Amino acid sequence: MVILDVSQGQLSTKRGLELAGRFSDYLPGIVILLVSDEPENLALPALRAGVKDVLESGLSVSEFRWAIRRAQEGGPDRDVAATPHAGRVITVASPKGGVGKTTMATNIARALAERSPNGTVVVDLDTQFGDVAAALDLDPTYTLGDLLVPHALADGIALKALLTKHSSGLHVAPGVKSPEEADGLRADLISQLLDNLKAEFRYVVVDTAPGMTELALAAIDHSTDLVLMTSLDVPGVRGLRKVVELLEHLDLPPMTRQIVVNMADKGAGLSVGDVEATVGQKVDLVIPRDLAVVRSTNSGSPIVESAPRHKVAKELQRLVSRFAPGSARSSASNSAWKGLHRGQVAAL
Ligand SMILES: Nc1ncnc2c1ncn2[C@@H]1O[C@H](COP(=O)(O)OP(=O)(O)OP(=O)(O)O)[C@@H](O)[C@H]1O
Ligand SMILES: [Mg+2]
Repeated sequence: MVILDVSQGQLSTKRGLELAGRFSDYLPGIVILLVSDEPENLALPALRAGVKDVLESGLSVSEFRWAIRRAQEGGPDRDVAATPHAGRVITVASPKGGVGKTTMATNIARALAERSPNGTVVVDLDTQFGDVAAALDLDPTYTLGDLLVPHALADGIALKALLTKHSSGLHVAPGVKSPEEADGLRADLISQLLDNLKAEFRYVVVDTAPGMTELALAAIDHSTDLVLMTSLDVPGVRGLRKVVELLEHLDLPPMTRQIVVNMADKGAGLSVGDVEATVGQKVDLVIPRDLAVVRSTNSGSPIVESAPRHKVAKELQRLVSRFAPGSARSSASNSAWKGLHRGQVAAL
């Protein structure tokens, strides 16, 4: 494996690409990685020069290790479901609308991006009212329909170039722009997209439309973790029980399941105990109704980002730590990476 670092101008991008081309000519089959400050602009020339993946500079040691492992294991055309290092896929779903799925998905993604800035992507599968981009204050150029084209579905670098990037490093596959675009979204294409994304990213977070739609089920089929949400009302809780019963009858891969009660109001006439008795499973997280959450949505900044000390943000972080145990970015691992970062060419 060869790693060429063209960040910080130590080795010019032009020279780095030339070297990559020579390595792939003289040593066919060698895995070449490029480290750059602007990976999104290098996707195509890097691909032509035989580069396997372009990594953003400043990755932590664990992210860097992950990227190396991913490159060694092969491209997205391999059976990623069978590989132990395929990314973790966290799907947020609920039978009823308006219970906070998008809020939850964007907060989980933003919190995971803190731990793995270039290794986290959020996918908006709500084809009617997808608003992940708005919740992150993004104005995307490419949306879901643009990603479901053969060259992006077959190639990780091409796909990454079409994703929208949040200032935190989080990548975003935004929802559709129009109902016409939504018509072209087939479950088998979404399945290919998720296969590709989980080969490229450490964490894939999926927001869904209310109900068990075909696309939501396609996402659940890829999931390692499922977050099921309800508010404290009888239709919502009954709907959740039906979803849990449905999932029990499906032949799904093993996954963790988190039950979240959101917008919990005291005196609603239903308690968390009622939810547990109805659904037949313990509730993992209870989030109170709080105006700070609405404010964060309206300002386009997830509450874990805009008010990290708020009690809701802390509860959300507690949930996220189940998906990324002990992986908060540490200064020790960062400084270890910086030492490595200074080397221009490292052959492993
Ligand atoms: N704990 C909370 N307290 C107060 N408001 C909340 C809370 N959680 C979410 N909200 C607000 O509720 C509204 C709906 O939330 P959100 O869009 O996340 O729901 P959803 O389940 O994705 O809806 P849909 O089913 O339409 O996609 C948003 O304005 C959001 O700010
Ligand atoms: Mg939503």
